[in-house]
Amino acid sequence: MNIDPSPTQPIPFQWSCTKVVLWLCASIGAILLVGCASSPSTLDPHGPAAQRIAELGWLMIAIATIVSLVVTVLLLYALFRSRRRDRTPRIFRGHALVIGGGIVFPIAVILLLLPMTLYVMRALAVTDPARAAPLQIEVVAQQFWWEVVYPDQEFETANEIHIPVGEPVELLLTSVDVIHSFWVPQLHGKIDMIPGRTTSIIIEATDAGTYYGECAEFCGLQHTKMAFVVVAEPADQFAVWVAEQREPASVPTDPLVQQGEQIFLSSGCIQCHAIRGTHATGDLGPDLTHLGSRLTLAAGTLENNLGNLGGWIANPQAIKPGSMMPPSELTGEQLPALLAYLATLN
Ligand code: CUA
Repeated sequence: MNIDPSPTQPIPFQWSCTKVVLWLCASIGAILLVGCASSPSTLDPHGPAAQRIAELGWLMIAIATIVSLVVTVLLLYALFRSRRRDRTPRIFRGHALVIGGGIVFPIAVILLLLPMTLYVMRALAVTDPARAAPLQIEVVAQQFWWEVVYPDQEFETANEIHIPVGEPVELLLTSVDVIHSFWVPQLHGKIDMIPGRTTSIIIEATDAGTYYGECAEFCGLQHTKMAFVVVAEPADQFAVWVAEQREPASVPTDPLVQQGEQIFLSSGCIQCHAIRGTHATGDLGPDLTHLGSRLTLAAGTLENNLGNLGGWIANPQAIKPGSMMPPSELTGEQLPALLAYLATLN
């Protein structure tokens, strides 16, 4: 029997220039690829508040890059110096490096960044308790959607905030259940929405467009499906939108639509939903008066079209398990009539 007498020896890891270069390339590549994500970036600001945050972000990235490069150079030096005669400068020997690099340098960086961060935070804070902007909008976070109220214009909508472009708008934010966080990366930083307390921020969009927003605080099972949009539009378009939203729902004349309205008004839908102009005044779920005018359903979960709406009404728990909307008990004939009615709510 031929037995190998030498026990298996672990192969020692050898650092080499090639390995180090490959490791550095992989690390830098991974960092850069993060920027390829399609979600809107805080580094692509479209408003004054987001601009200040982005500038602070770039400063932090620059400092972090310099520190990383310095540490990498020192690491490479430490890895390869033993192959040569040790010519380490005096400054890098003994306690000098530990005290300088571990205590003095971090304190210097913190002393630079902390005041700048506090300055930006103070500049973004709404310090005047009186009305801070001509237009105020109340946003109430709920598991897992956003109630949007225009108090002066006397209407409410959901999961979609329209603002006039180029004008500061004050948002009054609160929650009815747990802590959520309001975040539109291209317009402002995150701000918590706390039950029993109202926080406020000023947002302003410098360019017309649709800006993605989301809940940035874990708030339950469907936290990831709690999105919204901010639509910034020219003042005249915004005025038209407000005028349309203020209108009550139109009275149906088509027999199928009338049947759908009756189904809605005689079902459990009215316990949670309101449609202005009818006796449906529920306020646990989104106001549906102008449901058809919105871009998404179920707080950014689905594109707003009749197919998705039908699927959502039939079994919301299959699409967004844990949402407050129960499955419907409509028959095969009732659902098309209800959809025909809901399609008229533009
Ligand atoms: Cu609401 Cu997370």
